[in-house]
Amino acid sequence: MNPYIAAAVAEMDKINVSRMEHPGPWALDPASCRFVAAFARALKVRRALEFGSGFSTLVLARETAAQEDNYLLSIDSSPRYSTMAREAVETSGCPAKVEFRVAPLRPRFYGPRLLLTPALPKGLLGALGPFDLALIDAPHEGWDPEAALYDIFPAMAVGGYAVVDDANLPGREAHWDAWRAALGEAADFIHLEGIGNGLLVIEKLEDDPPRYPFKGALGAAGRALRDYARLLSVNPENR
Ligand SMILES: C[S@@+](CC[C@H](N)C(=O)[O-])C[C@H]1O[C@@H](n2cnc3c(N)ncnc32)[C@H](O)[C@@H]1O
Repeated sequence: MNPYIAAAVAEMDKINVSRMEHPGPWALDPASCRFVAAFARALKVRRALEFGSGFSTLVLARETAAQEDNYLLSIDSSPRYSTMAREAVETSGCPAKVEFRVAPLRPRFYGPRLLLTPALPKGLLGALGPFDLALIDAPHEGWDPEAALYDIFPAMAVGGYAVVDDANLPGREAHWDAWRAALGEAADFIHLEGIGNGLLVIEKLEDDPPRYPFKGALGAAGRALRDYARLLSVNPENR
């Protein structure tokens, strides 16, 4: 097994995730929080990135704070939840450097694939990277996280990792097939089925840019347009 994953699995039960602090089922599952914290500790993560601000921001901030010149970039599509996560980090007194960005979800083409993704200024992630660890913890429904890895991957350090939550959810294999096809030999995928709702750990092995596959592009575009229409109708914050 990957030595950093093995170290994190061995040490994760020593991480205290307070029930008083954990806000509820929308947040990263407590076991997944423990793994992410132990993994960040094993990797001595200095620069981290997350898609999905909330309790996990506090978890990552506490780990990156141990490193000199640390930086955590936390991105969310919701101004409300981004503000709540910022307030939680500020009131915790954690000294980590954390930057919050709000980016509304927009459809965007990745080669032939039309996908929904937080609309960030072009080149931003690359300019703020390279990141040693990225966490993708998107809403459980209403947003397909395929594009998040394409956005993050070029900004990850070679030898860096992405962790994707909810890996055991039905339908997630379709993303992995697309990710595997797009990244080929540039990434290694490890499914940790027994932690929380399942975690997918992706190690960046090479700096090759993704080669977005045609297979499944039509279905992905249909889902992106459906999710975007639903988002615009129920969530005016995203307009
Ligand atoms: C699966 S949640 C996870 C958010 C974050 N990674 C965490 O651990 O709390 C995904 C989305 O829920 C929203 N969210 C964050 N805090 C929330 C809260 N207190 N109540 C409801 N939704 C929340 C955010 O828009 C976020 O992108």
